[in-house]
Amino acid sequence: MKIGICSDLHLNFVSSEYKGAVINAIRPIISGLDLLLIAGDISTSISLNWHLDCITEALGGIPYYFVLGNHDRWGSKYYDSHKLVARRPEYIHGQRIQLTPDTILVGVNGWFDAMVGDPQRIYDTNDLVYVNDLCEQNGVTIRARIREWAAEEAKVLRKILGDLSCVKRVLVLTHYPPWANANDDPKYYPWSVCVAVGKAITEIALQNQGVQFDVFCGHTHHKWESKVLDNVTISVQIAEYGEPQIGSIIEV
Ligand SMILES: [Fe+2]
Ligand SMILES: [Fe+2]
Repeated sequence: MKIGICSDLHLNFVSSEYKGAVINAIRPIISGLDLLLIAGDISTSISLNWHLDCITEALGGIPYYFVLGNHDRWGSKYYDSHKLVARRPEYIHGQRIQLTPDTILVGVNGWFDAMVGDPQRIYDTNDLVYVNDLCEQNGVTIRARIREWAAEEAKVLRKILGDLSCVKRVLVLTHYPPWANANDDPKYYPWSVCVAVGKAITEIALQNQGVQFDVFCGHTHHKWESKVLDNVTISVQIAEYGEPQIGSIIEV
């Protein structure tokens, strides 16, 4: 099975009105794929479902799965954006998909938790303006809220990775890099890393050293690949606003 992974399509930069334009932007990237994984930042909340319909049409029957990024929540409250897509079978936050007899795919949205770098830098992110339950909060409340959300993401991941008997490989699809260094500049770390999810993966990987964990994410728009542990890799997908492209292709 040939799997393409992409992230940060930001299709609202292509069009939120002309379906043909969006479909034409997506079609070239799916050639030869058996499955497409999208690591979030597909659109913004107001046009998210419309863009997902475009993706479905562009793929013409090729299956795909996605998680939500921060931009997908813009114009919405955190948990309301989750509800917007909860009924879509392609939305795999909190889901575990059996890809082959010994390979599973799990999805978790993730959220930045300002646990690395200078927490004051969270004021640099527009999420504090456009995510409706982050704006109009003070710094203490914001930090408490984002850490609560990130902790909940980690909890979701721990639950779906609870039983790894019969599993040799786990693909994790998430929006935020779970470890720092995906950005060149540490000033971006506080709002670019979901440390809580990283801790969960590290802990589970150390307990299951016979299982390979490959984490695919986005958010920073910069390509970055690294081996985190002997049995853990991270691959951050390259992206340009409104220019869909495949960041990685793997075989399972
Ligand atoms: Fe993005
Ligand atoms: Fe993002």
